[in-house]
Amino acid sequence: MTEKRAQFATRLGVIATTVGSAVGLGNIWRFPYEAGVHGGGAFLLIDLFFVFVVGIPVVCAEFIIGRHTGLNVRGAFKALAPKRAWGVVGYMGLLSSILILSFYSVVAGWTMKYIALSLSDFDGINTVEGLHGQFDRFASSDWSPLVCTLLFLLANYLILARGVQKGIERMSNIMMPLLFVILAVFCVNSLMMPGAADGLKFLFSPDFSQVTPSVMIEAMGQAFFSLSLGLGCLITYSSYFRKETPLLRTAGTMAALDTLVAILAGVIIFPAVFTFGLQPEAGPRLVFEILPSVFCRMPGTMLWSTLFFVLLFVASLSSTISMSEICISYLTDELGMSRRKATVINIAVAMVLGSLCALSFGSLSGWKIFGMTLFNLFDYVSSNILLPLGGLLISLFVGWVLDRAVVRRELSPDGTRRGLLGARIVVFCLRYIAPVCIATVFVFGLGIVSL
Ligand code: PHE
Ligand code: NA
Repeated sequence: MTEKRAQFATRLGVIATTVGSAVGLGNIWRFPYEAGVHGGGAFLLIDLFFVFVVGIPVVCAEFIIGRHTGLNVRGAFKALAPKRAWGVVGYMGLLSSILILSFYSVVAGWTMKYIALSLSDFDGINTVEGLHGQFDRFASSDWSPLVCTLLFLLANYLILARGVQKGIERMSNIMMPLLFVILAVFCVNSLMMPGAADGLKFLFSPDFSQVTPSVMIEAMGQAFFSLSLGLGCLITYSSYFRKETPLLRTAGTMAALDTLVAILAGVIIFPAVFTFGLQPEAGPRLVFEILPSVFCRMPGTMLWSTLFFVLLFVASLSSTISMSEICISYLTDELGMSRRKATVINIAVAMVLGSLCALSFGSLSGWKIFGMTLFNLFDYVSSNILLPLGGLLISLFVGWVLDRAVVRRELSPDGTRRGLLGARIVVFCLRYIAPVCIATVFVFGLGIVSL
């Protein structure tokens, strides 16, 4: 390869793209519904534990691998550990990326439908009951969700085909600041509702009676999913970082902003849930069912509702392009394909699998594997199993196998006291804390050993 590897142009670009990858449906759709099902505050606390104790060190580990090698997820392990079983981490990452992209695009497709619905004032229906039926009717119909999924993937293609700087980076620079502004506006609005106190109590006061080993699995999976962690997404993005990008600080900023957005989403949704006497345990339909009924009772329904679903759409798009980039950089680096061809292949596969996921709320809802529809299976297997397993292997690899000098140089290039201390802490977490936590949750949570 003679062509020079793409790089993100600016420091803002680095933050906007990594935060863009992290912040998405995981925060605004998945976190509130998981927290709603699993007891609110307790789920949040366990999630925070995994983000800070396991997540941040593993984010650093991915950054080290990616920037040091400047390669895709498969190529990086091939370069660092030739002829060893570590290569499996690369293939697992590629598989997870495509599974996640498939079911994620369905939900992202729903956001497009809801933008259209908002603009048409929800077809004039505006009672809570009426809207309830509306989501179910839409999600279980045959064509509409399918077409939305395909359209969403097409939008991905249009951005990805423009390349790393002109496509991914430029889009993120515009969308991320916009997203934070919209979120702030919604938070203020939500805090003024009569149910605000109950909502905040649900989100912030932990009730540990709800916590079982399987809730631990879900919370760990949520932390990995939300940080885009364990599948080489961050290896891929950091292969576009410059030598000057501070890895520790970038990891900290990304994890902090990602967590902030999840909490803000909770602050937006739960006060509304309690204000309108709805149930927090609604599951995946929570955001799509509850928020529209909130918007319908606010002055300026169309504006609020459109704004919210545009926010969700934008957040999804900056995440899915990072999922696709895992495969695209693999196909271009390792198999020598053109960027265009690699993008077409990735999006085409996602279109096929995504269509099946889209139908799994309707015609294919009877197709069950291990008692789960395809949509749920893809989510469960990738988030709760493949990502933490990938994270476990990545942390063992950087903690025990990778040359310590490389780790030190990447985390603290100019060898300041603070930098070296940071590097020591990260390595300690990667060697002992993260692997032990992940393995323990697996052993108990998957019922390998039961208490
Ligand atoms: N982190 C993204 C979110 O929270 C989802 C994601 C997972 C993105 C894996 C990339 C890779 O929505
Ligand atoms: Na996230």
